[in-house]
Amino acid sequence: MATIARAVTGALRLQGKVAVITGAASGIGEETAKTFVAHGAKVIIADIQDAAGEKLARELGGPDTARFIHCDVSQEEDVAAAVDLSVSAYGGLHVMFNNAGVLVPGCPLEETSMVEFDRSYGVLLKGAVMGVKHAARVMKPMQTGSIITTASVAAHIAGPSMAYTTLKHALLGLTRYAAWELRDFNIRANTISPGAICTPIMKDVPKFFLEQMQASSFFPKMKTSVSHKIAGPDSIANAALFLASDDSAYVSGEDLAVDGSHMLQPGDPLREA
Ligand SMILES: NC(=O)c1ccc[n+]([C@@H]2O[C@H](COP(=O)([O-])OP(=O)(O)OC[C@H]3O[C@@H](n4cnc5c(N)ncnc54)[C@H](O)[C@@H]3O)[C@@H](O)[C@H]2O)c1
Repeated sequence: MATIARAVTGALRLQGKVAVITGAASGIGEETAKTFVAHGAKVIIADIQDAAGEKLARELGGPDTARFIHCDVSQEEDVAAAVDLSVSAYGGLHVMFNNAGVLVPGCPLEETSMVEFDRSYGVLLKGAVMGVKHAARVMKPMQTGSIITTASVAAHIAGPSMAYTTLKHALLGLTRYAAWELRDFNIRANTISPGAICTPIMKDVPKFFLEQMQASSFFPKMKTSVSHKIAGPDSIANAALFLASDDSAYVSGEDLAVDGSHMLQPGDPLREA
């Protein structure tokens, strides 16, 4: 896909840029790392999956082009180290992609485990906050940068769990605030809201939610929407490429839905069965 996109535009859209991508060992982050490198970027693959991250870094050309760092985004020193590696290895940071995510199984509200909530909070929201914080630390002196955060359709409507819905909603606020505060430093901040994307995280979608979705007309409708199917991670990687590149130089504080029109479904698709 990256090859096709490059062939269509005829240009390397991230030549000379350096990106940190969290959650880059799998799914959307992995596909985005491949796309960014295909467009000339150097990337830091930041993830907790060491073997997969190291393997991807080798596939993408090794230390001259891509480096893996063990990074648990819920730990500030890990996030700071990933950002610092972009500077020490490649001379700066132009793109911060806060993408790492977990989907802790949902349950009725009254049975919410605050331990599980805190785990989601650490990765989905605190991890992104620290990504913005440390990206700003390095990008401000450079007077340039693009911060991208993976939100979700669950940042706009009810998603598969209370924690996921609540924390994904908060990413829109974080991004709008960052876009506002960093505007004078030529640093942009945007979110991408994927719909259903075929990646390993889908195995964690709560069974009751999947059953409700399957029982409703949601899936058939997806097939007749613009996406024709549940999309692959390349759909999000290409959106990230746009937001990372200078093609989106005047776009900041925005959310880009990449959901095959999911959020335009009339009524409540979960209650139509
Ligand atoms: N797949 C979808 O349908 C979908 C829809 C909307 C939003 N999203 C979001 O997209 C993002 C990427 O998810 P994906 O679909 O590629 O799933 P994925 O499971 O393939 O990738 C998630 C990655 O995050 C990493 N990760 C988990 N906890 C981490 C931590 N503490 N520190 C660092 N890395 C950690 C995992 O190791 C994994 O590599 C997530 O933020 C997810 O919420 C996915």
